[in-house]
Amino acid sequence: MNIIKLSATDSTNSYLKELTSNASLQNYTVVVAEYQNTGRGQMGTVWESVSGKNLTFSVLIRVGELKIKDQFYLSMAVALGVLNGVKPYVKNSLYVKWPNDILAEKNKIAGILIENVLKGNSINESIIGIGLNVNQENFSEELLNVTSLRKIIGKTLDKDEVLKSILVSIKKYVKFIDNQNYKELKNLYIKNLYKYETPSMFKDINEHNFLGKIIDVNEDGRLVVELEDEKTRKFNLKEIKFASR
Ligand code: BTN
Repeated sequence: MNIIKLSATDSTNSYLKELTSNASLQNYTVVVAEYQNTGRGQMGTVWESVSGKNLTFSVLIRVGELKIKDQFYLSMAVALGVLNGVKPYVKNSLYVKWPNDILAEKNKIAGILIENVLKGNSINESIIGIGLNVNQENFSEELLNVTSLRKIIGKTLDKDEVLKSILVSIKKYVKFIDNQNYKELKNLYIKNLYKYETPSMFKDINEHNFLGKIIDVNEDGRLVVELEDEKTRKFNLKEIKFASR
């Protein structure tokens, strides 16, 4: 595996994206940085991480053949890869919070930002950005429900070792896509989904609270929620969140 280590950069996703446009890189090229000036999160948010404490890295993945309409399978594979790569280090229950946050119990330990480069109606290559809180002990007060492996297990971990575990695991789950084993991949994703089939309070785009339970995730990544009147509704990323976690 080709691993490029940087002490600082703006964002490992941006760095790797720039690199792919200038060089022909090996599949699974990794860029890892001790510090990002402008780490990016989902939906235009900022990814905060104390310098040197955590894993902030991006992986270049070329899946054999993946149609744009099936792109959520890559999100599933990466989420399962991160979850299972972290599993050897913690006894706590780990979950994927839709679409692809990784939780330990109810606290976020990792976030994933996927940026696809398209070709025709397929995904040519993907930049998979992962931020995993490893050895950070204190988080700013605004960040609720956030934790790190260090906070959970009470000891400092070797970040390179954790990185390796995650990369091996991501490769394993991306193979499901290469083998077009979509059904099994989705089953595994659903099995690890936070609050699956559990009545929960949600907030819609208009900040209205409503009760429902997650019953499925569509191939296009939309969350399928059964409402109190047993009707189902499908939500895109910006359209729903948990009212509390
Ligand atoms: C999220 O909002 O949960 C996604 C966070 C993704 C953060 C990672 S850190 C490495 C990579 N580079 C970035 O700028 N973002 C991703």
